[in-house]
Amino acid sequence: MEIAGKHYRTVWLEGSTVQMINQPLLPHQFDIVDLVDVAATANAITTMIVRGAPAIGATGAYGMAQAVLLASPESWKAEVAAAARTLAATRPTAQDLFHGVDFVKRAIEGAQDLHSAQELAVAAARDLADDSAAACERIGEYGAELIEDGFRILTHCNAGWLACVDWGTALSPIYKAARSGKKVFVYVDETRPRCQGARLTAYELGGEQIPHAVIADNAAGYYMARGEIDMVIVGTDRTVRNGDVANKIGTYEKAVLAKRHGIPFYVAAPTTTLDFACATGADIPIEQRHEDEVLCMFGRDEEGKIRKVRIAPDNSPGYNPAFDVTPAELVTAIITERGVFKPEELSENDELLR
Ligand code: MRU
Repeated sequence: MEIAGKHYRTVWLEGSTVQMINQPLLPHQFDIVDLVDVAATANAITTMIVRGAPAIGATGAYGMAQAVLLASPESWKAEVAAAARTLAATRPTAQDLFHGVDFVKRAIEGAQDLHSAQELAVAAARDLADDSAAACERIGEYGAELIEDGFRILTHCNAGWLACVDWGTALSPIYKAARSGKKVFVYVDETRPRCQGARLTAYELGGEQIPHAVIADNAAGYYMARGEIDMVIVGTDRTVRNGDVANKIGTYEKAVLAKRHGIPFYVAAPTTTLDFACATGADIPIEQRHEDEVLCMFGRDEEGKIRKVRIAPDNSPGYNPAFDVTPAELVTAIITERGVFKPEELSENDELLR
């Protein structure tokens, strides 16, 4: 997508340096970060300089390519194996991360020497990123057919192009619908504690000139009860065999509310989020993040400085689960790059895993 007339992806590889948009600074400052080794790339995933399932999947793949490019001829296999472990340990919930790391690992399995491994790894990481961007665009095309002219749509967290390589998952259908001339309005859940909705989704929608408003997470029920929301679209970090999905904390309660009000609840899911080894959502590991994300907030002060401020008493602890599970029964349909499926249809389509 474009920023000030220039096309950007969220993450890419330049030589052996992984480069990415510095997301914690948005929307106040647009900056590119250079990550010169695997430790730095892994740290960028853990600290959420890059975040969003497909984006961290691509970062995992580029991180693997970086590891192969920087490895020494004597011990490259052991170094690359260690890099795979480091990258996979950064965040536990998004299936894309493991897919990205494994994709490059498998691509170099047959390599006879470091030089050919380097070529294979870079090509595989680039292919993964290209395929991911194309899948998100296809999701947009399928999803746009579900959006009627005049629809008012609620979304949670940021499942836009910043969360992916390009296009987005939940926001891609909105971009496609708007670009085809349909009028849409987007209710953007702020998405405490890290406010990916208020900071990133609003930034993206503003860039595309799509009418929207940021609402407090607690306001979704108010607008649903007033009949002002026609559909909900969210992303997913892991989509399991029975159609349960794990997404940003707060997604589950939006799905319950949508069911209560008879509002369709769609999940936009690249097939790279599928994990059929998990039978139900109860098997999905849910990331627990630092309590400071709940107890404090980041923002720009009146002098334009980005500051962290504490909002809870000094000695109150916080709990911070980063994701929750929305059961399949609350999901109207799952929009993939290969079509739109009822959640219970996923397990009948094993070919989706390829
Ligand atoms: O913790 P984050 O910001 O990585 O969480 C992102 C989300 O929950 C998105 O909705 C998700 O990754 C799915 S779509 C890109």
